[in-house]
Amino acid sequence: MIVRGRDVRARCTFCNEEAIYIVKHRKLRLCREHFIDYVKTEVENTIYRFEMLKNVKKLLIAVSGGKDSVTMLHILHQICRELGTEILGLTIDTEIGEFSRKQVETSVQVFKSLGIPYRVERFSDYGIDLLRPDLEKITRRPPCSVCGIAKRYIMNRVALEENCQAIATGHNMIDIAQYAIANILTGSLEYLTKLLPKVEEGPRMARRLRPLYFIDEKETKLYVETVKLPYVADRCPLSDSRETMQDTVRALVRELEDRHPGSIRSFVDKLVRRIIPSLKVPEERYGTCKICGMPSKGEVCSFCRIRMLLRGET
Ligand code: AMP
Ligand code: FES
Ligand code: ZN
Ligand code: ZN
Repeated sequence: MIVRGRDVRARCTFCNEEAIYIVKHRKLRLCREHFIDYVKTEVENTIYRFEMLKNVKKLLIAVSGGKDSVTMLHILHQICRELGTEILGLTIDTEIGEFSRKQVETSVQVFKSLGIPYRVERFSDYGIDLLRPDLEKITRRPPCSVCGIAKRYIMNRVALEENCQAIATGHNMIDIAQYAIANILTGSLEYLTKLLPKVEEGPRMARRLRPLYFIDEKETKLYVETVKLPYVADRCPLSDSRETMQDTVRALVRELEDRHPGSIRSFVDKLVRRIIPSLKVPEERYGTCKICGMPSKGEVCSFCRIRMLLRGET
């Protein structure tokens, strides 16, 4: 900004260095260093507020190679080192060509550069082939739905195998608001309870954590760029090319936060404090899948069901 011939660029609220990011709802201007500090502190506050790491000796961190999970890994690596919590990285190769190849390569590159032990799991080892032309017809689900079920199953399975008490994923504030609003629109209120920052563990089910619950996706993008971490920006090639309702809701959430800074942050906060606790959703009862022994609402879990269908068994 030029004022009367003087170059008065915005300066950091804390140190007078040039600001690279403005937190409008808090009236903060942050330089590179204080921006990095800000994101880490926000994640730390979320972890403490929800006692995410209480009784967690080993944490599984699910990394897709995207900006969110790479940011999460970088920050959790520091926090867990300070707390003495062991960590294990996990990346799942969905084997859908160049996109998934880049995701795995990037995740492994970050694990190695930070010296984090990791596992790579491949869909084919679990009998899943997302590129099968008849996948949707046989499973009666779009590929992204099969992918989501398979990824959640594999994460939980690896957590149990590796004695990890919790799994962290990189869902950000915009993702949470989008899922919540979409579920309200369709009346699927029972799914809202799954959108908490921490979903408690159960028998053979690890605790699920979302440490980026209050972090805007703009912040993870700036974080990876500022820290110079590699990340994959491409969109999944199997996602619907037409605009879905989820896309429209996402655009709306983005616009709300941009036009009314802090509004989405306050919405996800209300989701945790008021909306979800006020829902009278009957507690889900899980039994055991008779095929794989993992938790299941029916006799056979949705993952084994999909695998049976793909093998031609009914
Ligand atoms: P998404 O549903 O693709 O937005 O992913 C949400 C979160 O799930 C990511 O931030 C990761 O923590 C995790 N995730 C997604 N895809 C993978 C993958 N292929 N391997 C490991 N973790 C993943
Ligand atoms: Fe797995 Fe789209 S099919 S991310
Ligand atoms: Zn500063
Ligand atoms: Zn099963």
